[in-house]
Amino acid sequence: MSKLILVTGGAGYVGSHCVLEFLNKEYNVIVIDNLVNSTIINGNGLPESLIRVQHLTGKKLKQFIDGDLRDSELLDSIFSNNNIDVVIHFAGLKAVGESIAKPLLYYDNNITGTINLLKSMEKFKVNKLVFSSSSTVYGEPEELPITEHFPTGQNCTNPYGRTKYMLEEIMKDLCVASPDWSIMSLRYFNPVGAHFSADIGEQPNGEPKNLMPYITQVAVGVRKELKVFGNDYKTSDGTCIRDYLHIEDLAVGHLKAIDKIYNNNFPGFHAINLGTGRGYTVLEVIQAFKMATGVKIAYKIVDRRPGDACAVYADARLAHEVIGWKATRGLQDMCSSAWKWQQKNPNGYRSKVK
Ligand code: NAD
Ligand code: UFG
Repeated sequence: MSKLILVTGGAGYVGSHCVLEFLNKEYNVIVIDNLVNSTIINGNGLPESLIRVQHLTGKKLKQFIDGDLRDSELLDSIFSNNNIDVVIHFAGLKAVGESIAKPLLYYDNNITGTINLLKSMEKFKVNKLVFSSSSTVYGEPEELPITEHFPTGQNCTNPYGRTKYMLEEIMKDLCVASPDWSIMSLRYFNPVGAHFSADIGEQPNGEPKNLMPYITQVAVGVRKELKVFGNDYKTSDGTCIRDYLHIEDLAVGHLKAIDKIYNNNFPGFHAINLGTGRGYTVLEVIQAFKMATGVKIAYKIVDRRPGDACAVYADARLAHEVIGWKATRGLQDMCSSAWKWQQKNPNGYRSKVK
């Protein structure tokens, strides 16, 4: 019998790409998502991202639940009605600026929601979890590349980042209290790009906060120019360095994590970086985009964005050692897939499938 996975936040950007991989691997999948950051269009109760995932895979979800993780009765009913093997936990709010303006919303949604999930899991003896963490837990690192042993939490610059740090600490405590738990916290670096079909991708609400969607919106003419936040950092061209990672590689990382915690006896809390191990400056990304797509991005240098670290990239060796995962796609692929998605879907999921 194939395994049953509960995916929280599966209608979102990372979740939808992962659900596609899970269905392709014949897993049974239940998604719970409150649609706070996703779109229902056709009135049939399924978010458009997951309609497209079903279409691409030719497989159906076992169930989609339009629900909130802060509803503990709903969570208990899901676990009591299904024999869930593994939980993959993406659901959360992730906008850094909004988290500074509305900290209670972030602590309530991300922390309360996750505690509810962990409590239901404990109650129904489901103790295998893959959690979406972030390189943001490291803040501004003192050295590079960043290994999983670096301190976390001390330099988090915003409530969003602190929720990821706090949740990791809660999960560590849980694993100390009970050896039955097996939790893998995947610390993503900068996921970008889209599925090669260009039918699923990232749909930012309003003005994009992140670099790649901003670039594609400039390229397609929705925005006039990219603002590059600062060129006086101590890097080769003065702009910040990040470790960009193709969303399809990230999805494969989740498959490997499931294999490890499900098929192997792998108790305890394990934090693993998912990055390429290679950093690029903002200007290098703009250049790579031009090379990959032929489109030149208009930009101007503006002041630094508060809270930005100068350079962040992973030591990605542990992922290879522990789960046998390595990123295989490069920056050109990330740029061209992001551009294909933007062109095919100028209005995100509200665009007609061509
Ligand atoms: P996303 O906003 O596209 O997806 C998150 C999904 O969770 C959304 O569909 C939203 O509707 C749902 N959700 C939020 N709160 C919920 C709740 N209380 N109950 C039920 N559903 C809820 O974000 P994403 O980019 O796919 O990120 C997925 C996870 O990965 C998040 O936890 C995020 O913090 C983490 N992460 C993302 C990035 C990135 O750059 N995209 C980087 C590091 C970590
Ligand atoms: N940048 C610009 N102009 C923009 C947007 C970004 O110059 O319009 C620059 C930023 O200053 C930074 C780089 O591009 O140097 C990357 O910025 P992003 O906002 O795309 O990504 P961050 O590294 O700041 O943070 C992202 C998410 C976090 C997550 C982190 C690690 O926003 O939530 O990646 O995964 F935690």
